[in-house]
Amino acid sequence: MPLAFAASDVDSVPLYVLTQGDMHAWLDHQDDVTRAWVGRNGFKAGLGQQLAIPDKDGAIKSVILGYGTDDARRRVRFGLADAAKQLPKGVYHLETDLPDDEKAEFALGWLLAQYRFAYYAKQDEPAAQLKPPAGIDANRLEIIAAGEVLTRDLINTPASDMGPDALEVAFLDLAGQHGADTRVITGEDLLLQNFPIVHAVGRASAKAPRLLDMRWGDQGPKVTLVGKGVCFDTGGLNIKPASSMALMKKDMGGAATVMGLAHMIMALDLPLQLRVLIPAVENAIDGSAFRPQDILTSRKGLTVEINNTDAEGRLVLADALAYADEEPSDCIISMATLTGAARVAVGPDLAPFYTDQPDIAAALAQAAATVRDPVWQLPFWDAYEKMIEPGIADLDNAPSGGFAGSITAALFLRRFVTENPNYLHFDIYGWQPSSAPARPKGGVGQGARAVLEALPQMVNL
Ligand code: BES
Ligand code: MN
Ligand code: ZN
Repeated sequence: MPLAFAASDVDSVPLYVLTQGDMHAWLDHQDDVTRAWVGRNGFKAGLGQQLAIPDKDGAIKSVILGYGTDDARRRVRFGLADAAKQLPKGVYHLETDLPDDEKAEFALGWLLAQYRFAYYAKQDEPAAQLKPPAGIDANRLEIIAAGEVLTRDLINTPASDMGPDALEVAFLDLAGQHGADTRVITGEDLLLQNFPIVHAVGRASAKAPRLLDMRWGDQGPKVTLVGKGVCFDTGGLNIKPASSMALMKKDMGGAATVMGLAHMIMALDLPLQLRVLIPAVENAIDGSAFRPQDILTSRKGLTVEINNTDAEGRLVLADALAYADEEPSDCIISMATLTGAARVAVGPDLAPFYTDQPDIAAALAQAAATVRDPVWQLPFWDAYEKMIEPGIADLDNAPSGGFAGSITAALFLRRFVTENPNYLHFDIYGWQPSSAPARPKGGVGQGARAVLEALPQMVNL
């Protein structure tokens, strides 16, 4: 079900947003009954607190939403969004005149809080609807929400229904919606077309590996998105322990996120040329599985010694990035659930990113703060290049030592992008470990909204 605003012409209940500082003045203007009701219900305007206020017939006259303190709002993004989940059935409108960026955060948070993953079990339907607040671009927010829904649905769908074949179907469906051109290279054809590592990583699965390629738009700057599409990551022969394998349906989170971002770009009809590349594989085990100490020759010609078959993401991305790099691009962006080390470093909330371009980094950091899609720059630290050089081959896919795992993975990827200087890589998590405002537990997009907001500066749109 699409996440949408209510029609503007229906009756609606006013929502008042009150900071803790606003409380006294607001109470002074209320009648005795309302003051008593607010007091008895313990409403103190804490961020996310909410209270419906009845009229004399027991209907809802208005709703007050706690906006807490500046500090609380800095800490908690989309802090008002739980209202969308908890308010009684009905249509509401924002009565308080917030600054435009806060209105947009409120409205988008409301939409995203209505997300349900209801393909396998019925879920409660969102009951509270919001009219689009004046002064925000409602259409843009609905498009952003739709992109995020696509990302979440793709991640949440288990590998039994979201293997490389199903990811291809979803990819072609997305392209079809927007009239984009596609090309898919599958199975043995990957060898004929020189994608040897995509084939090697994916060949042990019952679902053939494939490379998904989409092109859309014929003018303006060229943006190439590359997403890790590992539909399930067992770790391969260096098999993961149960606890590490538990969440690995989400290992196509990079693919899901670039598809969500591609939806936003195409639905908004941005004046750019978009390309999306996804190596879609399952890192599985059978007699044909690639092995530790195998040396693989990549599309680009660089040889890679496999020192851990669980470092498969950088492998499939290597061929896809090399392919992307064969054409001039104003920006190549990769997104991948690439390393556990990124999670150890920054936790589940922040998306670390890497780029050699200070302007891109600055635009992105600012956009991320504006749209509350937090990202954090980590360095392509040149001195660590030697960690990914095993001697026996050009590159080592899994350096020993355990230092700087997210950085060495990023450096590995950068070796495959040598012709286009504007390269941006995200090491995302793609998963919300426990429910937060606007982000129920499960698959979640990271970085896509920040990139969308930063694109005009990043590529001079
Ligand atoms: N998909 C994993 C990374 C991952 C694990 C992301 C957990 C998010 C949560 C990736 O393929 C992987 O297994 N990476 C290894 C690399 C190592 C073997 C060099 C890792 O990070 O442990
Ligand atoms: Mn792995
Ligand atoms: Zn993986």
